Amino acid sequence: MRKQSWSAWLTLQRKNWPLVMVTLLSLSTAVVLVAKSSSSSPVTCSCDRASDREAGEVPLVRESVPSRGESRGRSPSPLDFMKSKLVLLVSHELSLSGGPLLLMELAFLLRGVGAEVVWITNQKPADPDEVVFSLEHKMLDRGVQVFSAKSQKAIDTALAADLIVLNTAVAGKWLDAVLKDDAHRVLPKILWWIHEMRGHYFKLEYVKHLPSVAGAMIDSYTTAEYWKNRTHKQLGIKLPKTYVVHLGNSKDLMEVAENSVAKRVLREHIRESLGLRNDDLLFAIINSVSRGKGQDLFLRSFHESLQMIQEKKLQVPSMHAVVVGSDMSAQTKFELELRNFVVDKKIKDRVHFVNKTLAVAPYLASIDVLVQNSQARGECFGRITIEAMAFQLPVLGTAAGGTTEIVVNGSTGLLHPAGKEGVTPLAENIVKLATQVERRFTMGKKGYERVKERFLEHHMAERIASVLREVLHSAQSRTRS
Ligand SMILES: *[C@@H]1O[C@H](CO)[C@@H](O)[C@H](O)[C@H]1NC(C)=O
Ligand SMILES: *[C@@H]1O[C@H](CO)[C@@H](O)[C@H](O)[C@H]1NC(C)=O
Ligand SMILES: *[C@@H]1O[C@H](CO)[C@@H](O)[C@H](O)[C@H]1NC(C)=O
Repeated sequence: MRKQSWSAWLTLQRKNWPLVMVTLLSLSTAVVLVAKSSSSSPVTCSCDRASDREAGEVPLVRESVPSRGESRGRSPSPLDFMKSKLVLLVSHELSLSGGPLLLMELAFLLRGVGAEVVWITNQKPADPDEVVFSLEHKMLDRGVQVFSAKSQKAIDTALAADLIVLNTAVAGKWLDAVLKDDAHRVLPKILWWIHEMRGHYFKLEYVKHLPSVAGAMIDSYTTAEYWKNRTHKQLGIKLPKTYVVHLGNSKDLMEVAENSVAKRVLREHIRESLGLRNDDLLFAIINSVSRGKGQDLFLRSFHESLQMIQEKKLQVPSMHAVVVGSDMSAQTKFELELRNFVVDKKIKDRVHFVNKTLAVAPYLASIDVLVQNSQARGECFGRITIEAMAFQLPVLGTAAGGTTEIVVNGSTGLLHPAGKEGVTPLAENIVKLATQVERRFTMGKKGYERVKERFLEHHMAERIASVLREVLHSAQSRTRS
């Protein structure tokens, strides 16, 4: 399953990106030339950004964090106090899913300020795995040391580290399994980063040490509240000091989002690949396809919205939906259900399925509205939401979980209830955004402003820095006493 998504991603990179890159390069160079030769005329935002760049540099491949020995001219980071600190990162697995990728981002932020960073993966596939191989090499290239989770080197690092970050609840299994009687010695310097809200994580086997660690860092207030409730009621344990840290958009993503030339190229490219015209109205849901993410309910809403438009004879552009995140081999039954639905309802020509991909920017550049339809308790945070807002897209989201902390109802998007009772409200919201063009644009702009105010990488780095500072401090005082 992962191999396939990975190779789909690589395929996209290999086959399509060079084309996009070349186009981008020639266009952005042209923009630089125009900007330089007409310095007296008003310079647009994208020109301004392009002229800051060295000529010939391709925007999309720039690394956001300097690798070892490349920190010349780096602006100060809120994480600078982590320089020379030894940090052990414990990942429950290594895959292209949100948790591990986020921990890798932290690894690179810490490397960027000169911390010594060691990575271990608790659960690895028995056979050689393309994804694990690639991600490990990406880390090694950037000066992160990768040790085996059960090695003596990993144990020594844990004992010597200034700070240990356990990523996800499941990573807790590593403590007893590997450290055994030494586990209690490292608990005071553990920061536990939690990104999940599903019931099966509430097991003592995973989280029994949670009360004794230095702190828990959780992606949204709703998730933190839920963990507090569940651990207390179900397991009879108390959370340690808990910090809510909203995530931020990477610099790479913001760079594309703010480059109107890049966006236009990507938009044309993706729309062409889907067979869409520039003025077709495109609603997207971008999540791994599964019932929890609500693609089925979204398609029902989309179908209902088409009926409403027909009944009321509303004048709107041709409406389309794209479901990005398909994986036929993983969720076959559910995927087939979605395919059958669009055939039954005769909307097959309007609904497009795209395989799982890490490269979401091209899709964000080419759609008009993002739908975040995660069900039940919703997203823990939902990074795609802030990514879409960076692209000035309005968001139609479920009033659940982290989405309610990101989307301002009525301003940056519209919220609808989770579950079946949300189908009609979402359909109505789809119609609203299809018919009210000005409102759609205004919401997109408001969303972008909100991202610039609080959901950028530097905001996240600042929030994480203040947590790490406290955890280091408490670790030092607790291990000394
Ligand atoms: C947590 O429990 C309190 C009191 O029982 C309840 O009001 C609140 O809604 C719960 N929060 C979550 C996120 O489950
Ligand atoms: C999408 O994935 C399926 C298998 O899950 C594969 O057969 C198909 O070729 C992929 N499509 C693209 C465009 O890569
Ligand atoms: C969102 O705002 C609309 C009005 O703009 C309101 O009808 C709806 O109940 C609100 N939804 C939530 C979940 O707050």
